[in-house]
This record gives sequence, C-alpha cells and structure tokens, in this order.
Amino acid sequence: MSPIVVTAALPYSNDRLHLGHLRSTYIPADIYVRFLRRIGEDVIFICATDEHGTPIALRAEKEGISPKELTDKYHPLIKEELMKMGCSFDIFSRTTEKIHYETTQYFFKKLLEKNYIYEKEIEQLKCPKCGKFLPDRYVEGICPFCGFENARGDACDLCGRYLRPIDLKEPKCAICGTRPEIVTTKHWFFKLTIFQDKIKKWLEENNSIPQNVKNYALNWIKEGLRDWCITRDLNWGVPVPIEEAKGKVIYVWFDAPIGYISSTKILFINKGKPEEWKKYWNGKIIHFIGKDIIYHHAIFWPAMLMGMEEFHPPDSIVAGEYLTLENKKMSKSRGWYIGIDEYLKLFDPDPMRYYLTSVAPLDKDADFSIEDFIRRYNDELADILGNFIHRTLTFIERFFNSIVPEANLLEEDKKLLEKIKEVQEISSKYIKEFRFRDALLEIISLAHEGNRYLNNSAPWIKIKEDPKRAATCLYVCVQLVKALASLLSPFLPFTSEKIWKILNMNSNIHNEPWDIASQLLPSGHKISKSYPLFKKIKSDEISKIRETLLPSKKLEELISIDEFKKVKISIGKIIKAEMIKESKDLISLKIDVGEYGIKSCIAKIGKYYKPEELIGKKVAILLNIQPITIFNIKSEVMLLAAEGENKISLLIPDKEVPQGSDVK
Ligand code: 2FM
Ligand code: ZN
Repeated sequence: MSPIVVTAALPYSNDRLHLGHLRSTYIPADIYVRFLRRIGEDVIFICATDEHGTPIALRAEKEGISPKELTDKYHPLIKEELMKMGCSFDIFSRTTEKIHYETTQYFFKKLLEKNYIYEKEIEQLKCPKCGKFLPDRYVEGICPFCGFENARGDACDLCGRYLRPIDLKEPKCAICGTRPEIVTTKHWFFKLTIFQDKIKKWLEENNSIPQNVKNYALNWIKEGLRDWCITRDLNWGVPVPIEEAKGKVIYVWFDAPIGYISSTKILFINKGKPEEWKKYWNGKIIHFIGKDIIYHHAIFWPAMLMGMEEFHPPDSIVAGEYLTLENKKMSKSRGWYIGIDEYLKLFDPDPMRYYLTSVAPLDKDADFSIEDFIRRYNDELADILGNFIHRTLTFIERFFNSIVPEANLLEEDKKLLEKIKEVQEISSKYIKEFRFRDALLEIISLAHEGNRYLNNSAPWIKIKEDPKRAATCLYVCVQLVKALASLLSPFLPFTSEKIWKILNMNSNIHNEPWDIASQLLPSGHKISKSYPLFKKIKSDEISKIRETLLPSKKLEELISIDEFKKVKISIGKIIKAEMIKESKDLISLKIDVGEYGIKSCIAKIGKYYKPEELIGKKVAILLNIQPITIFNIKSEVMLLAAEGENKISLLIPDKEVPQGSDVK
C-alpha cells in the first residue's frame, strides 16, 4: 500500500472563503480523504494559508498594516471556517513558517545548481515617490491592446490579456498614483521551456489526471511555454537565497506549492517523526484545486518537481470548475458571494456539502441558488433521507421496543439487502474516479428504495395483521439506515455520526472500514431514541434566509432629478457594424441618431452579437459621454445594454420611434 498525500489548494490569507472555494476544492478533497481513510489507505491531508505575493502585500499596504499582521488576522479565520465545514486536514499550516522558507530556498538553490534557473536583466517599473519597484498588481494603467483604462500590471480585465507591468500605457503606482520610471534590474528565470516535452508526455500518459485538466494544460503546451520569472522586487516573501539577489523575493507561485511539502514536514515534526514526510512524497501525490490554477499545478509545479529529481510529478490533479451564485459569477470585489461564515449562521455544514456535491459533476460549472438549495434540502435531505431514517427508527422504537427485530427474509427483502453491497462497491469505484456526485446519488438511491419499500410494506398496518412481516420489513430498513450512515460518512460526516449514535453503535464511524455498510446489524441490537435529522424549511422562513445569505446590491449615491437630466439618452439606428479584428469582442458601429447626427461607437458585444444582426436595430444610447479612442477609432457614444451572466441584451424600444427620440 503506497502512502498518499492529498492536498487542497492553499488559500491566500487576505480574505475569507466563500461557497465557490468549498465547491471547487475543499469539499471534494475532504470527501476523497475521508473515503481513503475508511478503505484503510495510509493518507495525509495537507493544507495551509498562502501568505505571500502582491495580493497580500498590496492589501496590507492599503490597510496600513504589515503583510504579516494581515495574514495573522486571516489565517485563523480561514482555518476555523474550513474546520467547521468538516474539512478534516491533518495539518493546516502557513507559508510564513520557518521551515517553509528553508524548503523554498532549498528548491531554489538546487534548481540553480542544476542550471534550471538563470539570471537575466529585464525592464521593471519603479515608483520614484515610494522608492519601490512595482511588480504585478502594484501598477495600474491603460491596456496596450484594448485601451481599457484600469488594467493591472498582471492582466487586463477588459480584453483578458496577460500583461507585464512594463506593457501598460500611462502606468501609475497603485499606492500613490505617481508615474513610475523604467529601470533595468536583474531577475531569475526558471527554464520551463526545457521541461515542455517531459510535461507533455507526463500529461498524456497519466490516466488518473482528469480530462479537463489535461485538455487545458495540453492546449497551453501546444501554444508553447516560456521561461518563467520566479523572482520579484518586493519586500514581502521568501528571500532569494543568493547574495546578488539581496532585497528580492521568490515569486509567490514558486513558493506556494512548496507549501504542500513544508506543511507535510511540519506535520511530522509535530508528531516527533521528522523524517517521515519523505515517505508520503515518495508515494502518491494528489492535488485538489480550482480550475483557475490549473496552469500552476499542471505546468509550473510538475516542472519544478521534475527538476528537483528527488521528487516525482503529481499522480493526479483534480480541478473543480466554477460555481455561480444565482447564475451570476461570484465576485468578492463586487460583493456577490456567500461567505462560509454567513452560511453557517443559518445551517449545519452537511446540507451545503450535500448540495455542492450533488448539484453538478466537479468538472462542470454549477450554480447555487437559494431556491434550489431550499427545495433540495426539503425534498431530498428532509423528505427522502431524513424521513426514511426517522420513520424506520421510530417504528422500531414503537413496535419493537427499540430492538432490531427478527427477520424471515423473502426474495424482495434479500434483493434490497444485496443492493447495499452493490452501492458500497459502485460508490467506491466512483469516488476513486473523483466522480463524487455519481457516488452520492448512488448512495441516496438507497434511501429512495428504502422509502418505496417501507411504503409498500406498510409495517404500521402489518404490525396488526402480520407482525412477522412488519418485523422483517423493519429489519431490512434498519440495515439500509446503517448502510446510509456508513456510506454517507465522507459526504455528510456530521449526519453520519448522528445516525451512528442513534443506532447505538459505540465506535466512531469514521474509523470503521468501508464495508461495514454491508455487515448486518443483528436482531436483538438495541437502538437509541431517534429524532428528525433535517428540520424542514417552511415557506415563511425563506425570505429571512434570502436576506441573510444573499448580498443585496447597495446603491452608493442617490442623484437628483436635475442631475439625471444632464444625462442625454436617445434612440439611434445602427447603420454600420464591423468587428475590430485586432480585438476579441469589440464591434465598431455607426449609429444614426436623427437630429444628433451619425455617431461612431465601439461596443464590447462581439461575444453576444454578430455585426450583421445589429444592422437596422434601433437601440438606446448614451450621447453625452466623453469620447475615447480605442484601436485608433474614436468612440463618441455608448450603447446601453442589460448585462446578465454570459449574456448581454441591448435596450430596444418596444414601439417604433424615430431615431433621435430622447429617452427620459
Ligand atoms: O489562487 C490561490 O488562491 C492560491 N493562493 C493557491 C495556491 S495553491 C498552492 F500552490 F499553494
Ligand atoms: Zn508610488
């Protein structure tokens, strides 16, 4: 049996986590680990907070505190929330630990010795006022590709392009707004290019890496990899361990995954076996991540591990896709998300673990909606699962004095009992394949079958006419209850413990072998008092749940009618439309606005409309906006449109009006 290390992506410790994080990474990882423990694997579950990088340095600077003060604040909050959700880490460490610094520097030095790291002079921005270099998000400016004015030093949010700080036009220091100067400075690069073929082969040949991860990574490889700058001019991070690099730190994406190893080391130091971590890193390595960081885990990290030689690349990388909230992308900055802490104020962890696992397969995007959550809570958890268990146990209490009765099994009873074993096996297969939703649905199907069987057998009637039959029925049902308690333990750990207790089992279900599900409870076993596991949500509670969970958009400032009158909106007819070829989704338009004349306009709607379908449409436009120039084309007016998730809908008057009609 090979030891297994399972990791969950290390969250940045500059903010609290939300449901999207739980869905993509932490719950799937926890289900997997809990299952492995139950089948007797030698597994450790590793996580930590990722405490370096510009996201943290910048936020701390804006809040006027040190980065360490910021991460000291968030580390315990994140840890507590994940633990409360049932994430059963063996360690939840930090990348600011001394051992992490040592391990990161060891990686750097070793890769340097092996000639996988080289130095190069590059141009960098420096703020003359702050006296600091401006890496990544420390600079803001105009995107050189699409003209977006609030692009950041690492990417443009409008056209989505990857940027370097020196690419920005009219760059500004994100802290003080000063225009930076260009200086040349030395940086260290990791020779990613020489690992290209090796990574490709590893991805192609490894059958346990899910297809979504392979597809993304192989596509990037097809486009060609570039050497990777792994140092930064920043005073927050792991110092580069060479004399000439004084004052520079290692890039956060070089040190973060090493956090998986350093946290494992700390785990075993704490256990008094400081060498034992190696055994796990020589075993199987499985990373759970969100899909936004596939590049880092399927390209950078394996290359680093290959370069080190004493390690091997991961055995699998499981990447959860996105979760939208009420069909809109979750966003911390726009306040559109549900925090774990907010959820836990209203509900226990298990209903959310259930919902997020069953809503969609992990490799497909999913949506969280309050209505759907409540519906499934009531229909599936309360009515199907909870009710089946509670009815079975209360009937045994009432009719058989809480003692599991004797059974005379007929064919149909035997068939149902056999089903337990089948579900035990198939769910195990699915979990091993990271198909957590399929496994959970199989297990829940036992409760469906149980309900059907219980209703058909009606022991509450049979108890008078045919008490032996009633006894057999409840004997079979209690076996299903036991199986559910056992099989649900990776998914709904708290509920499973409760059922186990009600069944009056002395052990801890999480320490029992997986196949205990199909070992029958003997007749004569006494059970404890049952209670409803999931209290149904009543319709009058829904509005309070909505209010507590769903952020409501706040209107920042009210305007007077006179202010609104300054805004000139009119109806224009689109007379010309063509794609701007250099862009991905910009369309250049000519719009006839009647007496206001013909106006040119650039609209970012190319993803949603074809130029030819726009011609002839009458649309609402904002006339008196300051013109801007994009791709050397002047845009004088703005199209008005409603924005939904992955949808843009132009505002079109619902009755025929002439162009130039004012909108009031
Ligand atoms: O994207 C993120 O939130 C990173 N903090 C994840 C790091 S995962 C690993 F590499 F440490
Ligand atoms: Zn500055």
